[in-house]
Amino acid sequence: MINKIQELIKEVEAFSSKQLEEIDQFRIKFLSKKNGIVTELFKEFKNIPKEEKKEFGQVLNILKNKVQDKVEFLKLNAEESDDTKIKLDLSLPGDTDYQGTRHPISIIRNEIIEIFARLGFTISEGPEIEDDYHVFSALNFPEEHPARDMQDTFFIERNPDVLLRTHTSSVQVRVMDNQKPPIRTISPGRVFRNEAISARAHCIFHQIEGLYIDKNVSFADLKQTLLYFAKELFGEHTQIRLRPSYFPFTEPSAEVDISCSLCGGKGCNVCKYTGWLEILGCGMVDPNVLETNGINSEEYTGFAFGMGIERIAMLKYGIKDLRLFFENDVRFLRQFQ
Ligand code: PHE
Repeated sequence: MINKIQELIKEVEAFSSKQLEEIDQFRIKFLSKKNGIVTELFKEFKNIPKEEKKEFGQVLNILKNKVQDKVEFLKLNAEESDDTKIKLDLSLPGDTDYQGTRHPISIIRNEIIEIFARLGFTISEGPEIEDDYHVFSALNFPEEHPARDMQDTFFIERNPDVLLRTHTSSVQVRVMDNQKPPIRTISPGRVFRNEAISARAHCIFHQIEGLYIDKNVSFADLKQTLLYFAKELFGEHTQIRLRPSYFPFTEPSAEVDISCSLCGGKGCNVCKYTGWLEILGCGMVDPNVLETNGINSEEYTGFAFGMGIERIAMLKYGIKDLRLFFENDVRFLRQFQ
């Protein structure tokens, strides 16, 4: 009997295979609970004479361990059988890593910055959390102006002098604080207004505001700058139209429309059949603002303008819902390069 087991041990030692199926058959042959060789031999144990029991048990355990080790070892080295093997097709194009794209707001912001950079405008930035002085007082907002109202501006509850800027004109106040004219700068950045979120409005959006102060800056300079900007951004055929308006910090003030880039001015549902699209506010810097900021209004004049980047991006890309810019759905973002 023991000799038989020794023979089996040799058989196990000699066995080798790279096929998972064969290895499994080998395991079943020896270890199957039903009628595996090892299982059957253990059943013999009771028939073995007493004096041989010890040796029999030891050799049988060796056999069992050898089978287990062998199966484990062979499995590690086994090749996957044909149907589980991953079929490698080396002629397929490689997997390229998906590269991120710029956010449409960044793309348009950069385009606008580039256009004004060509005209010699520098970029200035400032804090999003501001105080009343930089957002309102220094810009000639009367005390009772509705923009100062809780309904429009986010204030910090404990200190009404701390607020989230509602426009980046506040940055220009800081520029006037620190620089002497000539000043030619644009300030891009996030702004905050207490508005209900809808397809056309959001409580956070992005602006670019411009300021130009020098001797003899005129309304004609403003118009020409904006016409150049509109043509660069929306195409050579773009026209602009100025409508009188009111801002506390500019006098005179105007809203600027561009000829509808979609219908070319013929009238469509985007321009509401007017042929024109409103894109920005502008005006000549109010002498009060110059004086408040330490600039002699007898010597210097200036113009300012401000626009919402989302609005321009919506017009350029034909996007109908402003909320898409903030949801960061990659299916949306991926479309912009
Ligand atoms: N600051 C204005 C706004 O946020 C825009 C503007 C800037 C208008 C400069 C005129 C001149 O709406």
